[in-house]
Amino acid sequence: MRPLVQRLGHVAVDSTDPERLAADMTNILGTRIVGRQDGRILVSSNARHAEFVIHKADRDGLRQTGLEAVSPEAVDQVTARAGQAGLKILSTTPSLPAIAKSVTFATSEGHVYEVHSPMPHDRALRYLGPGAHPKCADHVNFTAVDPKTWAEEMAAACGFILSQRTTGYEISWMRAADGRHHTVAAVKSHAPGVHHISWEFNAFEDFKRLGDALTCEDRRLVWGPGRHGAGDNLFLYFKAPGGFLFECIAEMEMIHDDLLPTRIADPGENLSNWKVVNQWGALPPREWVEHHTPLAV
Ligand SMILES: [Fe+2]
Repeated sequence: MRPLVQRLGHVAVDSTDPERLAADMTNILGTRIVGRQDGRILVSSNARHAEFVIHKADRDGLRQTGLEAVSPEAVDQVTARAGQAGLKILSTTPSLPAIAKSVTFATSEGHVYEVHSPMPHDRALRYLGPGAHPKCADHVNFTAVDPKTWAEEMAAACGFILSQRTTGYEISWMRAADGRHHTVAAVKSHAPGVHHISWEFNAFEDFKRLGDALTCEDRRLVWGPGRHGAGDNLFLYFKAPGGFLFECIAEMEMIHDDLLPTRIADPGENLSNWKVVNQWGALPPREWVEHHTPLAV
């Protein structure tokens, strides 16, 4: 079976200071605010109606992750398959007025996914403003107490394909129908949550602009730049207000064969196998390894 999800749809977070987070994303990442709706701030980096939705809350955390279905029928299939897998269906009402059809379910650990019809492309593709200007939000890496079960549930409900995993399922990377090495991933942690949210850029040159923007506020990168082994993508990481860890990537590996066997990699003790984590050799700092942003209450 082909994956029922085409690509990442949107990411919705809770923030104690939505205006600050949205402004920081404008100044550093280079996204822009495209709308305000019922107290939410809608953010996009391209023509898509919204890629990132910020809700005001008492605590910073991940609310839900939107995944674009390959067809309207695929939303119904996800509803049926999630139910068959014993996962809880939370809603069939779309989270935004712009979304035509969706189903929202939770994994057994409580990660919330809204599989929805494609976001309308009703914004200007290009826009003025500071920051490095990503192409799109491209993947999310979650934290899970049991990443093996998480991967099995995502395969059962949405047909995600396991592109790669480490020997002990410390990290699992899964691909959608668009063939990116990973659209969702999960790293083993003490609690369910999100490790990082990734934005794709056109070129490595854009990373320089982002790093220089951080220096204007005496901030620094958390890890990188480098090139991951899993996914073969260029990367760097920095923290945004509220503690959200953002990754910036370019050149993600594409896999067009649904039947390609899952790659299994030895991560080494504490992710010390540099050929898996960073082909250029610099290992992740403790701050990156231990990072965890909780799920919203
Ligand atoms: Fe990533």
